[in-house]
Amino acid sequence: HERTFVMVKPDGVQRGLIGDIVSRFEDRGLKMVGGKFMQIDQELAEEHYGEHADKPFFDGLVDFITSGPVFAMVWEGQDATRQVRNMMGETDPAESAPGTIRGDYGLDLGRNVIHGSDHEDEGANEREIELFFDEDELVDWDQIDSSWLYE
Ligand code: GTP
Ligand code: MG
Repeated sequence: HERTFVMVKPDGVQRGLIGDIVSRFEDRGLKMVGGKFMQIDQELAEEHYGEHADKPFFDGLVDFITSGPVFAMVWEGQDATRQVRNMMGETDPAESAPGTIRGDYGLDLGRNVIHGSDHEDEGANEREIELFFDEDELVDWDQIDSSWLYE
């Protein structure tokens, strides 16, 4: 199964949404294989958001993502990257349907609660997992309900 990188951003942490967000992925049947409460430094922020380096919102984005702790996670499951993006909603919470994470918890584009690897960017999931986690921080384990989640 595929692995994907997911992160509760500083606004989501401050607003006490870590548990709700983790529950949504658990309820969906995805398996957490890594989780880390951490503070992102300038260098990691600039690397993680490198694709946006020339955008006008880049400095604000880096300031925001380094402004407080985040909860970084790796989730595993069938088509995990796309499934997580679907559950997140659109980049802009204002465009996100109710029932999605950004549609339920966010209002503003620059405070959109959660990050998930882009499924249209080939290999982004693996690159981001490697950027945030050492191999020995990821746990291989069997989910006891897997035969009820997968045919
Ligand atoms: P991430 O999961 O955070 O990567 O969001 P995304 O993949 O849905 O969006 P994208 O990678 O295009 O943009 C990264 C982040 O930059 C978004 O989550 C927004 O918070 C912010 N962002 C994107 N576009 C804009 C914009 O036009 N203005 C502002 N202020 N922020 C933006
Ligand atoms: Mg993105």
